[in-house]
Order: sequence, then C-alpha cells, then structure tokens
Amino acid sequence: MQIASSLLLAIAASALLLAAAPEWVGNKACQACHREIFDAYSQTPMALSSGPVDSGLLAESFAHADFTHSHSGYRYRIARTNGPYTMHLESTRAELPIRTQRTLSVFIGSGSIARSFLFQLEGFLFQAPVAYYAQKATWDLAPGYDRYAQPFLTRPILPACLECHASQIQHQPLTQNAYGPLPFLENGVACERCHGPGRAHLAAINSGSKTAASLIVNPAKLPPEQRDSICAQCHLNGEVRVLRAGRTPNSYVAGDRLSDHWAIFARSAASREVKVTSHMENLAQSACKQTSGAQLWCVTCHDPHRVPAANSKVAWFRQKCLACHDQQKCQAPPALRAAKGDDCTACHMPKSGVSDAQHVVYTNHAIPRRPGTPQPTANNRLRGMAIAPGNPRDLALAYAILAQRDNKPSDKTQALKLLSAAESTSPLDAEALLYLAGLYQQTGNSARAIALYERAIQLHPAQLTASVQLGAIRMQQGNYPAAIRLWKDALTKNPALPLVRGNLAIALWKVGDRTAAQEMLKKAAEWQPAFVPPPLP
Ligand code: HEC
Ligand code: HEC
Ligand code: HEC
Ligand code: HEC
Ligand code: HEC
Ligand code: HEC
Ligand code: HEC
Repeated sequence: MQIASSLLLAIAASALLLAAAPEWVGNKACQACHREIFDAYSQTPMALSSGPVDSGLLAESFAHADFTHSHSGYRYRIARTNGPYTMHLESTRAELPIRTQRTLSVFIGSGSIARSFLFQLEGFLFQAPVAYYAQKATWDLAPGYDRYAQPFLTRPILPACLECHASQIQHQPLTQNAYGPLPFLENGVACERCHGPGRAHLAAINSGSKTAASLIVNPAKLPPEQRDSICAQCHLNGEVRVLRAGRTPNSYVAGDRLSDHWAIFARSAASREVKVTSHMENLAQSACKQTSGAQLWCVTCHDPHRVPAANSKVAWFRQKCLACHDQQKCQAPPALRAAKGDDCTACHMPKSGVSDAQHVVYTNHAIPRRPGTPQPTANNRLRGMAIAPGNPRDLALAYAILAQRDNKPSDKTQALKLLSAAESTSPLDAEALLYLAGLYQQTGNSARAIALYERAIQLHPAQLTASVQLGAIRMQQGNYPAAIRLWKDALTKNPALPLVRGNLAIALWKVGDRTAAQEMLKKAAEWQPAFVPPPLP
C-alpha cells in the first residue's frame, strides 16, 4: 500500500513537471525568422556546451580515450562496439580484481577547454570520473577526482550544474538527481535563456500583432540590473551562490533580477589572497567598469550570437576599446605597441595559461594598466555582490555552505551565530534549517539537531540530508527501526549512497533481517565497486 501511493505521488509530480513549462518553444522555433542569428549562434561554445555523447561530434576524441591513473592503479577506457559509448574501468592491481563499466550519455563543456561526461543509471545522473582536455588533446581524470584512491562513481549531478550548461532541464522533483530519459530537452545555452520564453512572441507575430517585439526580452533594452542579470545567471560565481528562500535553480527567467533568485557572495577586498572565478567579478575590478558604470557590460565587447574568427579578433576587440579610448592616450611607447601589432588586449587583457581546472577566468577582465599586475585580492569576510546581494538569512547560509565545503572553524562560528540569530527573528526555510541542524549536530547538541531535522523533513519532502543525518542519530541511539525508515527514504532520492547502504545493512542485521542486510551490501558495491563494506556484527 505504502509503495503504491508513493509511486503515484512520483507520477503526479512528473506530469506536473511536463505541464509546467509550455511557454518554452525551443531554438528551432526561432530559426525560420532569425536565420542568420540562429546559424551563427549554433556554432558558439555556449550553444555547444552540452549534448548527447552519440552526436558524432566527439567520435575523433574517443579514438584515444585510454589511460591509467597511477595513484589508484585504475585503467579507464572508452569504447563502443555497435552500441553506445561505454566507459570501462578496471584495476591493474592483481589484489583488487575490480572491473566495471558505465554507458556515457551526455557531455558537458564545448571542449574549447575541457569536456566532462555524465552517465545515467536507474534514472539517476552522475558525473563520470574522466574528462577530455582539448588543448593538450588528452584524457585524464576529471578535475577534483585526482585525490581519490578509488574510482569515484557516485557524484550526483544536481540541477544547478545542468542549468548553466543546458536548457529545459527535466529534473524529477522528489529526488536529488533523477531526470527524465533525456536529462534536458535542449542542448547548450538556448535562445530563450537570454530572451525569456518565446511562445507569446510567436503567437503575436502569427496573429499579426504590432506588439510582438515587446513580448520577447531584448536584453539590451532592459534596465542595467536586469540586463546584467542575464549573463550573471551563469557568469557570476562569487565565492558562494545561495539560492534564496523558496526559489529553485530554474526559477530565474531572463528579464528578472538575479537578486530575486540568488544571493552571491565574495570575500570582501582588503587583504591579499582570493581567487576570482568568474568574468563578472573580474570585470567589476576594472577601471573601465568602475568609471563607466552601466554603460559598459559584457555585450560591449562580446557579440552574444557569435565568436569572432581567430584572424579578426585583434581588430574586433581594438574597435571595442577605441569606442571609449583615444589610441593616442595609451602611454606605451608606439614602437612597443607596434611590436604587439597594436593588439590592445595582448597588453591590457593578458591570458593566464590554461589549466586543467574548470571555471577559471583565462583572459584578465580586470583590464590592468600594466601587464603582470596581480589580481586584487580579499580577506575572509563575505559581502554580497552588487548584482545579487542577500539578506541576513542568505549571508548566514553562505557561511554555512562554506563551513561545510572548506571546513574552516571561523566560518562555522560565524554560520552558527548568524543562523541562530536569523532563526530568532523569523521561521527558517528547510534549506536553512538543514544547515543549522548540521552545525548543532557537530557541536554535540543532538536535541536541537533532531528537532530541526524533523522540521526540515516536514517542510521539504524532497531533501535528503536530514533523512541521512537524523538516521545516523537514531542509529547511535539504538533506534534501528527509525534509522531504517529514514535511510530507505533517503535512498529513494539518491540510491547511490554507499555509506548509507553500509550502515543500513548493519541496522537491518540488528533487527534480524539478515537477507536484506546482505542484499544491501551487494547493492552498495554495484553503485561503487571499490566500496569496502563494513563487517556485519
Ligand atoms: C514568425 C517569425 C518569428 C519567429 C518564429 C520569431 N521571431 Fe523574433 N522577431 C520577429 C519579428 C518580425 C521581430 C520584429 C523585428 C523588428 O521589428 O525589428 C522580432 C523581434 C525579435 C527580437 C527583438 C525584440 C526587441 O524588442 O528588440 C528578439 C530578441 C527576438 N525576436 C527573439 C526571438 C526568439 C528568441 C525567437 C524564438 C523563440 C523568435 N524571436 C522567433 C519574428 C519572429
Ligand atoms: C554558475 C554556472 C555554472 C555551473 C553551476 C557549472 N558551470 Fe561549468 N562553466 C560555466 C561557465 C560560464 C563556463 C565557461 C567560462 C568559465 O570558465 O567561467 C564553464 C565551463 C565548463 C567547462 C569547460 C568548457 C570549455 O570551455 O571547454 C566544463 C567541462 C564544465 N564547465 C563542466 C561543468 C560541470 C560538470 C558542472 C556541474 C557539476 C558545471 N560545469 C557547473 C558555468 C557553470
Ligand atoms: C547568451 C545570451 C543570448 C543567447 C543565447 C541568444 N541571444 Fe539573442 N540577444 C542577446 C543580446 C544580449 C541581444 C542584444 C544585443 C545588442 O543589442 O547588442 C540579443 C539580440 C537579439 C535579437 C534582436 C537584435 C538583433 O541583433 O537582431 C534577436 C532577433 C535575437 N537576439 C535572437 C536570438 C536567437 C534566435 C537566439 C538563438 C538562436 C538568440 N538570440 C540567442 C543575447 C542572447
Ligand atoms: C545559461 C547559462 C549562460 C548564460 C545565460 C550566458 N552564458 Fe556565456 N557561457 C556559458 C557557458 C556554460 C559557457 C562555456 C561554454 C563551453 O565552452 O562549454 C559560456 C561561454 C561564454 C563565452 C566564451 C565563448 C568562447 O569564445 O569560448 C563568452 C564570451 C560568453 N559566454 C559570454 C556571455 C554573455 C555576454 C552572456 C550574456 C549576454 C552570456 N554569456 C550568458 C553559460 C552561459
Ligand atoms: C565603455 C567604455 C570603455 C571601454 C569599451 C573600454 N574602456 Fe578602458 N576605461 C574606460 C574608462 C572610463 C576608464 C577610466 C578613465 C580613463 O583612464 O580613461 C578606463 C580605463 C582604462 C585603463 C587604465 C586602467 C588603470 O588602472 O588606470 C586601461 C589600460 C584601459 N581602460 C584599457 C582598455 C582596453 C584595452 C579596452 C578594450 C579591451 C578598454 N579599456 C575598453 C572606459 C572604457
Ligand atoms: C573590454 C572588453 C570585454 C568585456 C567588457 C568583457 N569581455 Fe570577455 N573577453 C574579452 C576578451 C578580449 C577575451 C579573449 C577573447 C579571445 O581571445 O578569444 C574575452 C574572453 C571571455 C571568455 C572566454 C574565457 C576566457 O577567460 O578567456 C568568457 C567566458 C568571457 N570573456 C565572458 C565575459 C563576460 C561574462 C563578460 C561580462 C561580465 C565579459 N566577458 C566582458 C573582452 C571583454
Ligand atoms: C605593448 C603593450 C601595449 C599595447 C599593445 C597597448 N597598450 Fe595601452 N598601455 C600600455 C602601457 C605600458 C601603459 C602605461 C602604463 C603606465 O606607465 O602607467 C598603457 C596605458 C594605457 C591607458 C591608460 C592611459 C591613461 O591616461 O591613464 C589606456 C586607456 C590604454 N593604455 C589603452 C590602450 C588601447 C585602447 C590599446 C589598443 C589600441 C592599447 N592600450 C595598447 C601598454 C600597451
């Protein structure tokens, strides 16, 4: 009975999902009338930033997808024999006779720099541990995977990742990382991500209405904050991005203010250490932007629909600089400038070397006076970014997210202080409750943690953290049936939690269900083959 009703709920939710987005019409619908833009845009890295692995685009790079990671001793190989592209991995160490495979379904990244791969199992989507590095034309572990001594096959792909690289995401609401058979309906960054939903524009044109143009967003005609929000939705990272209470990763639509959906924080400038990880932040540091204000934005230099050909880039960008600067003003000796081919950006927007990391700024958008000027840096205190500042709840959450990510005691103290202050002024949403509960749990205050986790579960049935953590507390208390119930619930939201499965096996063993316990361990090893199971008591 229980199972049948939860299945019904899942079906109802996915029907809702499909019905909820009828205003999106897709790139193809724009092609007939805006053919030139359509054709040009289709060739850009943004348009090509994701898609099915089978698209043919990638065949050549797969030809040499074969390497061994020395630290773990695993060999990774991608091959297809009549069927789909499959990642095979096997241990080269005799004492570890592990081999397994995953079918790669989706790529992320145009490959200007790098390309990541995803696989889907039982509907759930994960990042593959391998990546292609285009500049060196080599295959290696994906960024961040190097530190694991085992192949890591259970990194869930959350909707926010796809929201920046793909369009019309098909996330299944009551899960962490389950998607429709196609995780997204449109490849890359679609027209409507920058122009908003197109259905009303089409309908108006088809009925001969004169207001058609006003029914689609032209970014250039928006007030500066809404205009800049369009590129910032993907090109502003800060140190940490916090989804505002009640928002989802896909609630922002072109024309909105980003700050109504996301709060984005950076370390405030004062001392000298911080990394700039996005173009929007970097540009904000330039004298050009600081002095020109709203007059200068991304599209002052970039055509959103096309990338200038390599042999016309110098002239393209010089022309952009000269719209504001008199060539004579540049104080570089003319001979030096001539030696650089009068390439303004060669000296004022130099490139750093391409690294294996993703999400770095290569071209210095701080437009320094002298090449080699170090990037401005910052201290440990967070501040809201101009385009997406937050309220006290968001700032508190930002520290909590950082505390979890970087494990710095000072962030933890700050998070606990700010979150409990926020809690005393207004009821917290589920997301904030989860982080506060986690902080209490770490400081040994289980009673508070339990109460907050229970409230979070009530408020937000799709969350998974509270079920996992509360299960752990119940297990410690010897309340095995409660732990079993909570962990089984967590596994419906993401079944690839080997540690949860390991502990669940012990709980099942404790209540006498030995067959289920052994099944559970077997399943853990299917998701994560190198998983070392806990000994059953
Ligand atoms: C049936 C033809 C047709 C289709 C299909 C169509 N458009 Fe248009 N679009 C037009 C016309 C006509 C204009 C008005 C041109 C003008 O008056 O300058 C326009 C104007 C625009 C503008 C400028 C609006 C402004 O205020 O400056 C944008 C942006 C735009 N379209 C985007 C899109 C997108 C995105 C799609 C696909 C979702 C699309 N159009 C589909 C015909 C079409
Ligand atoms: C906030 C938006 C955002 C999120 C979230 C995000 N990316 Fe990106 N990603 C970008 C942008 C913008 C670029 C290109 C410019 C840059 O490096 O800042 C990029 C670049 C990349 C590249 C290199 C592409 C190239 O140029 O060849 C890869 C690969 C990549 N991302 C993978 C991922 C994966 C995998 C995830 C999720 C696990 C992810 N990204 C999450 C915005 C995002
Ligand atoms: C990355 C964001 C982005 C994407 C994706 C995008 N556009 Fe645009 N589009 C813009 C911006 C910004 C402008 C205003 C440019 C300006 O005025 O300088 C614009 C302007 C336009 C205009 C009106 C002005 C003109 O140049 O005719 C049309 C029509 C248009 N886009 C159609 C499309 C279509 C069709 C697609 C998909 C094939 C698309 N755009 C994809 C950002 C985008
Ligand atoms: C929905 C997310 C999204 C939006 C909106 C977006 N971008 Fe991007 N942009 C990306 C991603 C992802 C990449 C990296 C593509 C890749 O290489 O895989 C990228 C790459 C770029 C690049 C580098 C292309 C190259 O030459 O390699 C430029 C320039 C750029 N974006 C400008 C803009 C501008 C200007 C806007 C606003 C008008 C904008 N983007 C809006 C996601 C986005
Ligand atoms: C929208 C107008 C605008 C554009 C476009 C623009 N700048 Fe500027 N830039 C300014 C303003 C305003 C200042 C500050 C006053 C000044 O020095 O003229 C400035 C300052 C500078 C400075 C001095 C920086 C310092 O720290 O003293 C350099 C160098 C510079 N710009 C180079 C460039 C280059 C190179 C480009 C093209 C890639 C460019 N700018 C594009 C408006 C612009
Ligand atoms: C003053 C001119 C200028 C402005 C304004 C500008 N860019 Fe750029 N951008 C460049 C140049 C020059 C390059 C290098 C292009 C190349 O070599 O292909 C570049 C490259 C990029 C790249 C490719 C990755 C990299 O770092 O080389 C991305 C992504 C990008 N810009 C995004 C943005 C976004 C987003 C904005 C607005 C916040 C923006 N740019 C504003 C001049 C500018
Ligand atoms: C060979 C490297 C080089 C090239 C190429 C170059 N610059 Fe410069 N630029 C410099 C140097 C060096 C300075 C002076 C720094 C100093 O001594 O303060 C400077 C100064 C400037 C300034 C600040 C002037 C002021 O009054 O504060 C601007 C603006 C500027 N350049 C714009 C440009 C533009 C636009 C171009 C392309 C037409 C360009 N530069 C090409 C090296 C270069």
